[in-house]
Amino acid sequence: MKDYKSIENLLKANNQEHIIDFLNKLDGDKKDKLIRQIEKIDFEQLQELYENTKREVEIKENIIETIKYSDKEKLSYEERNRYDSIGEQIIKSNKYAVVTMAGGQGTRLEHEGPKGTFKLDIYGKGKYIFEILIDNLKQANKKYGVTIPWYIMTSKENDEATRNFLEKNNYFGYDKNNIILFMQSELPLLSLEGKLLMGKDMKIKEASDGNGGVFSSLRSTGALADMKERGIQWVFIGGVDNVLAKLADITLLGMTVDQNLEIGSKSVVKDNPHERVGVFCKMNKHPKVIEYTELPSHMAEEVDNNGELKFGESNILCHLFSINAVEKISKEVLIYHTAVKKNSYINTEGKEIIPSEPNSYKFEAFIFDAFDLFDDMAILRVKREEEFAPVKNKEGADSPKTAKELYEKYWSRKEEKK
Ligand code: UD1
Repeated sequence: MKDYKSIENLLKANNQEHIIDFLNKLDGDKKDKLIRQIEKIDFEQLQELYENTKREVEIKENIIETIKYSDKEKLSYEERNRYDSIGEQIIKSNKYAVVTMAGGQGTRLEHEGPKGTFKLDIYGKGKYIFEILIDNLKQANKKYGVTIPWYIMTSKENDEATRNFLEKNNYFGYDKNNIILFMQSELPLLSLEGKLLMGKDMKIKEASDGNGGVFSSLRSTGALADMKERGIQWVFIGGVDNVLAKLADITLLGMTVDQNLEIGSKSVVKDNPHERVGVFCKMNKHPKVIEYTELPSHMAEEVDNNGELKFGESNILCHLFSINAVEKISKEVLIYHTAVKKNSYINTEGKEIIPSEPNSYKFEAFIFDAFDLFDDMAILRVKREEEFAPVKNKEGADSPKTAKELYEKYWSRKEEKK
């Protein structure tokens, strides 16, 4: 541990003198813990991130083009068979793993606890989101005669609660040895003036650093090494909150392999220009998703000659990577995006301040920024009503209510077809 004087100098050099006030009021274990936390902060990186908040997101200087995709509905019989048999072979030979990113805060849903522990009110009895995902994996396991290893990314905030929940529910009957939890990393929050925020627990406030942290976290926690040991060749990485996600899609897998590509993803047609989804495109000749928070209105509304949205292929967070791609990305540093959020903190008088307006910057890497490291990717357009029912907001669009309707409709259609 560094001596106290050098910690003080470090804080002064980085305009964080107010933290010295807090340190002076602490002693013993609490003080040591705070010092250790300060030592781990990369102030240079934080400074850079703070300076970036003052810059406009420059999209216009880039060459942006639409991206090509294949519509699952329009694949020829021969193509579909070819893709499916390639994909099936890979899964059957135990070379496929699934990662679910469940480290988000889920603030918009206002559910106490990890999002996966939210119970969706379906078929009277209800089902937890984790249970729905497990059911999906179990079906694939049955179909292909394997047990797909399932990696769940948690965060410092929800790791314990996630573990306890799964344990308590006996992993919903899934083989425990094939469920691997790993924790993602965090970054400090900064006030709008660039100051670190102190929490009630006398720790500097930090938050998960976005789902783009999945690659480096897979690596640093040993989960990637575990995949390699198991002989995994292809990794599906998805979000936790889409209750219609197909975790083992042989068509996407086979198509990506057939096209000799290392990454793939699925899209649905954007519902309306301002739907809160990222859209696929090519930027400076590389695949890219422009997030809804960063897509200028005029681009969101732009239509092509057929009257369709020019940037209408929406990201549903169903991504596929070869193990080599995961390894390659895990060694790179992805760019960070800034979100302005409300975060409570304590001031130097020890009073808790609960802001009514956003008062702080949160820095997040986005998983899809990794696409930029590749020349091309496979995109499979699928039907929204079959594959996209997100649970994001407490009410309105993408809420438990809309997800329940979509889920029940989908499964009753499936039953009718039987
Ligand atoms: C995300 C996509 C968006 C897409 C939409 C579809 C990103 C950055 N954005 O938006 O392009 O159209 O889903 O529903 O992927 N997560 C972590 N750790 C974090 C932050 C998030 O594991 O630090 C996980 C969440 O638990 C969730 C997923 O990443 O499973 C998506 O995060 P969220 O913040 O909800 O993204 P959206 O804004 O919904």
